[in-house]
Amino acid sequence: MSITIETGGPLRGEVAVPGDKSISHRAVIFGALASGKTEIEGFLAGEDCLSTVACLRQLGVPVTAGGETVLIDGVGLDGLGEPDDVLNAGNSGTTARLLLGVLSGQPFYSVLTGDGSLRRRPMGRVTAPLTQMGAQFWGRERARLLPLSVRGGLLRPLDYTSPVASAQIKSAVLLAGMFAVGETVVREPEKSRDHTERMLAAFGATVQTAGNEVCVQGRPQLQGRLVQVPGDISSAAFFLVAASIVPGSDLLLRNVGLNQTRTGVLDVLGEMGADITVLNFREESGEPVADIRVRHAMLRGVEIGGAIIPRLIDELPVLAVAAAYAQGTTIVRDAAELRVKESDRISVVTEELGKLGVNIEARDDGFVVLGGGKLYGGSVSGRGDHRIAMSLCIAAMGAATPVTLDDPDCIAVSYPAFLETLNTLRGLSQARRDLKP
Ligand code: S3P
Repeated sequence: MSITIETGGPLRGEVAVPGDKSISHRAVIFGALASGKTEIEGFLAGEDCLSTVACLRQLGVPVTAGGETVLIDGVGLDGLGEPDDVLNAGNSGTTARLLLGVLSGQPFYSVLTGDGSLRRRPMGRVTAPLTQMGAQFWGRERARLLPLSVRGGLLRPLDYTSPVASAQIKSAVLLAGMFAVGETVVREPEKSRDHTERMLAAFGATVQTAGNEVCVQGRPQLQGRLVQVPGDISSAAFFLVAASIVPGSDLLLRNVGLNQTRTGVLDVLGEMGADITVLNFREESGEPVADIRVRHAMLRGVEIGGAIIPRLIDELPVLAVAAAYAQGTTIVRDAAELRVKESDRISVVTEELGKLGVNIEARDDGFVVLGGGKLYGGSVSGRGDHRIAMSLCIAAMGAATPVTLDDPDCIAVSYPAFLETLNTLRGLSQARRDLKP
């Protein structure tokens, strides 16, 4: 089924974006490994986080999931059981890499796979350090690709310097480190999102951070708790860009997580001239949260590179859309990680925005957009990548004619109600769904 997005119409009103995907994954994993009950409020009931829930259930964790509220009966650090079937992480890199860390510490055999996209994504970046800690892996390309067989067991703590700034690598090693006696240290070239460190500390682990280095003590006594998940700034980003580019727009985004390691998109949009105000700043469950007002503004091109990249890596596709509507040139560099996301986001964003007439050119580690030209309508594909699909919907907002997107279903990975919310904010009742011939 495809969908047609009409142009025009300002976005007005209020929206509460769904729960943060990274925090939702971690809340169920830590809740499972803690003693006692964990209640999660504001959980993201998207396909990715539901994959994590399904895997944990297969490992013997009682999880009651009903929309935004999830209850977990923690089984403790030593309470997981051998699954009697293959674990499936679906489209979710976070599920796969974090669970590989957990499975490494288990005295049993397990097999983990994922969908077509995830089976192409690099797992050697986690199996290498986890092997150093004592876990064993078997899989294609010498255990660098899913499906992977895992034999975990007694682990050694590790002092690991990661070649990539990646919260998934950091979290996999820290999670495995919880099953080792002693201190596990992870260092990275730039600081990646720090939800794991924050939540581990909130659950009672001893965690120290200094700059780009994190240190966790093994065998912690994790205690179940209430976790309030803030709205996902990566989902809010689509509306931040939509309201910025469509004249007459004025939106209030409620309850958005503003963790410093995630707010690069606000910094860049601010530099581009966006009209963004942060209101009602507060802290919930150890994470900073605020409301954000965004109004239409004339944007200008910027250069994006260096240490800010991990702070906005998931927002670069929609920032490419902002750049297309901005005056002047935008250059993105140091973002080669985009090539190993749900799709090769450098190639895909360049090709798909190119179909709408955007002057965009791929580079090895990013892209260059010559903004200010008129976008025209046409047919595009999200290539099965949720963030590309949503970015193309935003690109359609100001195009000369309607845009048809061929695979809106992939959006459910992180934001099941995205299209409905977009229509409501534009005062439209329903986007046109077209049956494929
Ligand atoms: C995530 C970390 C990032 C991000 C992904 C979610 C996480 O990936 O792109 O969407 O929840 O830890 P990397 O760790 O591979 O950079």
